[in-house]
Amino acid sequence: MTRDDRRRWDQKYTAAVLPESLVADEWLVEAVAECVAGRALVLACGLGENAVWLATRGWQVDAVDVSVTGLKLASQLAARHDVTIRLLAADLDLFLPLPATYDLVVVFRFLERERLPSLVSRALTPGGLLVYETFGPGQCQRADNHLGNPDFALGPGELPVLYDELEVVRTEDTVLSNRTVGRLIARRG
Ligand SMILES: C[S@@+](CC[C@H](N)C(=O)[O-])C[C@H]1O[C@@H](n2cnc3c(N)ncnc32)[C@H](O)[C@@H]1O
Repeated sequence: MTRDDRRRWDQKYTAAVLPESLVADEWLVEAVAECVAGRALVLACGLGENAVWLATRGWQVDAVDVSVTGLKLASQLAARHDVTIRLLAADLDLFLPLPATYDLVVVFRFLERERLPSLVSRALTPGGLLVYETFGPGQCQRADNHLGNPDFALGPGELPVLYDELEVVRTEDTVLSNRTVGRLIARRG
């Protein structure tokens, strides 16, 4: 990640307004419905909606993002919902989590193919769960597409291939009303 990339995200979040109500992504809500709350790591957390939602469900959450402006908003969101999350300002090109620490790793709307798969495997406890969703095949062909760089869209069935060290629980490529996504729920053996 370059300094310009970081500045771009900071600038984007300068104009951001926190949502009134706390809505987590449905793929995450479904994935953790039966889980006992433990330690969670949310990567590229942005404004922190999923991280804060997990904390309101009893998870002990660490949330990482490179944008300090985004993390300040995430901190406000956590305060608004009376929960505490640990916010870490870090570049995921460099970040190294403690090994076998997290029962849950969460990634939404972020794609890095080289380093993230081994980072996730390292971070998860044995039996721990990865819940991942990001833009998928066909996203860039949509009339409402706002994803600038097509490299940030997954190819068909790409997530389970990238995360082949984990056991697939569920995976799908799905067209939603406002975006097209690839999704994965996978477990560390
Ligand atoms: C499209 S936003 C998604 C945010 C959040 N996951 C969501 O779904 O709302 C992508 C996020 O990735 C963060 N990001 C981009 N590159 C990063 C990097 N190298 N390390 C850490 N965070 C990064 C940005 O700051 C931004 O918050």
